[in-house]
Amino acid sequence: MLGTSPQGGKSKLPMQGIPQPSREEVLKLPRVHISTHPVMAHKMTLLRNKNTPPPQFYQLVKEIGALLAYESTETLSLESSTIETPLQSTTGYRLAGGIGVTPILRAGLGLAEGFRQVIPDVQVWHLGLRRDEETLQAMEYYNRLPHQVDLQVVYAVDPMLATGGSAIDAINILKRRGIPRLSYLGIIAAPYGLMRLAQAHPDIDIYVAELDEALNDNGYIIPGLGDAGDRQFGTF
Ligand code: URA
Repeated sequence: MLGTSPQGGKSKLPMQGIPQPSREEVLKLPRVHISTHPVMAHKMTLLRNKNTPPPQFYQLVKEIGALLAYESTETLSLESSTIETPLQSTTGYRLAGGIGVTPILRAGLGLAEGFRQVIPDVQVWHLGLRRDEETLQAMEYYNRLPHQVDLQVVYAVDPMLATGGSAIDAINILKRRGIPRLSYLGIIAAPYGLMRLAQAHPDIDIYVAELDEALNDNGYIIPGLGDAGDRQFGTF
């Protein structure tokens, strides 16, 4: 998305003439989860508003990240153990194995922070991706993925699932690390990116707060919220 703006006006129009699926088509995909929570809808409306300033926008991204963490961890496995309350023994539970979250830099940082508020001991694996202009291959310009992996699940987080390119690349990289279970977590998806990600990685769960209408010619999601990185970090 380098060199473009939500309003357009740049030389490259990456989506011009490319057919896009409808919302109805992607809603039939089996492992796609779109939030129906009223608190999410409330926060999303504040987030989308163009008058929401960066500090409040970043705070909302964290809060939405926490809500998405809660919704997306519903099926995690537990281990039981016996604990003592002040009154007697009882059976307690803890999450089985570690959990990882991979923010795709830089826009994924706020979502990962929100995720940590729900699961504070999550491992955070930062991943910076850019695309080689000539080979079109994903290049890792920053990678803090550990070599030894013993985790139940890793969530790749990036707020805007637009063309799906970075999400597909990030999941490919995580798969090469041998993670047994992977999920993607985002704020807004376009039908095009959601379809591409689900087709490239049919074995992962995809969680988003809302599904929008389409991508504009510049590859921005509409109605969307503009540039999620710029709005979090005030770099307009
Ligand atoms: N990235 C963004 O930040 N916004 C979009 O609409 C699409 C990609």
